[in-house]
Amino acid sequence: MKSFSIIGCGAVGKTVGRLLQQAGVMQVKEILTRSAASAQAATDFIGAGRPVADFQELSRADLYLVASPDDAIAACARGLCRAGLLDQHTTVCHLSGSLGSEILEPARAMGAQVASVHPVKSFADPAVCVGDFAGTWCGIEGDPQARELLAELFGAIGGRIFPIDPRFKTVYHAGSVLVCNYLTALMEAGLRAFQKGGVPRETALQVMEPLVRGTVDNVFRAGTARALTGPIARGDAGVVARQLGALDGFDSQLALIYRALGSVAAELSRERGQASPSGLAAIEELLATKKAGAS
Ligand SMILES: NC(=O)c1ccc[n+]([C@@H]2O[C@H](COP(=O)([O-])OP(=O)(O)OC[C@H]3O[C@@H](n4cnc5c(N)ncnc54)[C@H](OP(=O)(O)O)[C@@H]3O)[C@@H](O)[C@H]2O)c1
Repeated sequence: MKSFSIIGCGAVGKTVGRLLQQAGVMQVKEILTRSAASAQAATDFIGAGRPVADFQELSRADLYLVASPDDAIAACARGLCRAGLLDQHTTVCHLSGSLGSEILEPARAMGAQVASVHPVKSFADPAVCVGDFAGTWCGIEGDPQARELLAELFGAIGGRIFPIDPRFKTVYHAGSVLVCNYLTALMEAGLRAFQKGGVPRETALQVMEPLVRGTVDNVFRAGTARALTGPIARGDAGVVARQLGALDGFDSQLALIYRALGSVAAELSRERGQASPSGLAAIEELLATKKAGAS
């Protein structure tokens, strides 16, 4: 059976390591972390492998899974190179969403196949994650042979594979930040506007809930353009002008968000085709106009 070693084994390394080991698709060899204690804890969690504290203690494996924090990936790749373990028969892969496989270039220069796999999941508790990993979308990019191997391995543990363009991996990753973290920030912005209108925060949350859930459902059911409703979908420039004026007078940050997202909404509205071209043009002009007096 082919073998793999894990370099950096925290939340993600433990989860993926145990799943691969349990699936019987690859045999875990060594587990390398910064401290002997965490390497031992990871080995115990995975239920196999040998904890090591230095790159020189690693033996040859078919795959080196680098699951260190993003900032340490380049150093881990250099450590593997120095240990003299890499050639055309080895694959090196990291699991970061924000970095491409080019960070593993030193390993590629030694002949190894390199790739990255980004499991789109929040790995809070590995004990929970091993149970609910199946169905996780995993974005893959890198050398063809490495992609093939990793698609097979992550597929065997229930991952759903999709390709990423390596040239725009960071932009791709920002997409997750926008729809996840920024959705939360957008909800906060909406709450502040409700509160300014005299609605207590708790009530505002209750009012928002069916609105937000319904909108999210509509996006996944019908797509973004068809899910768009409201003044920009209707081409109602008067409403947009009044809201912009009110937000400029209330909170410049909210006005900035309204303008930026309004421009994306205007593109969707054009695709949707409900608004009149003149209404939409007026809205786009309003959205492009900065607050009077702003530099
Ligand atoms: N967490 C998530 O939700 C998530 C989701 C998708 C992808 N990812 C990606 O998965 C990777 C791992 O993230 P994580 O959340 O599992 O990290 P983590 O829980 O912080 O674990 C990091 C591991 O790397 C080890 N480490 C740190 N510096 C190292 C070095 N210089 N050399 C060797 N090992 C080192 C740590 O060792 P010690 O324990 O001894 O400190 C620890 O075992 C990252 O690239 C991250 O972007 C994370």
